[in-house]
Amino acid sequence: MRSVRLENPAATYSFAQRLAAHLGAADVILLTGDLGTGKTTLARGVISALCGVDDAPSPTYTIVQTYDLPDGGELWHADLYRIEDASELEELGLEDAFDMAVCLVEWPDRLGEHLPPDRLEIRLETLEGSPTGREARLTGFGRWETRIDDI
Ligand SMILES: Nc1ncnc2c1ncn2[C@@H]1O[C@H](COP(=O)(O)OP(=O)(O)OP(=O)(O)O)[C@@H](O)[C@H]1O
Ligand SMILES: [Mg+2]
Repeated sequence: MRSVRLENPAATYSFAQRLAAHLGAADVILLTGDLGTGKTTLARGVISALCGVDDAPSPTYTIVQTYDLPDGGELWHADLYRIEDASELEELGLEDAFDMAVCLVEWPDRLGEHLPPDRLEIRLETLEGSPTGREARLTGFGRWETRIDDI
């Protein structure tokens, strides 16, 4: 586990832009943390760096937003908060995306048994005594176990 301190939204955004430089096809980033801890803010930083789109919309209602990458690949930004049943995940085609796209997934607890073995989990926690402070806890699984040291 690695821990990164993010003092304000701008710090979260630029951490995400740094992270983006390490991402490519079939990289799955799971973003966890309570409501409003900054998962979408972090996703926006990655989307800005990789896709040139600023102020990406939150996929709260659409569940998935997809973006084109300059190399011809795709980036998927998903918010699974409203998913109630695993069958909805199959309809979205998220598992195929895990194998080919850069995937940023908010509320990944909804994945259940569909959790991919290779994944980077980033948990955002608020910091006591600082309204804009966050701690990002990075845990790598599978391929990400060693890659995490480079970020
Ligand atoms: N260090 C920080 N990093 C990110 N966001 C922060 C930080 N400090 C304060 N904020 C604020 O917290 C809010 C985070 O909103 P955001 O939509 O990114 O959260 P979220 O985790 O995606 O929420 P949800 O669970 O509803 O999807 C924003 O209003 C942002 O300005
Ligand atoms: Mg969000």
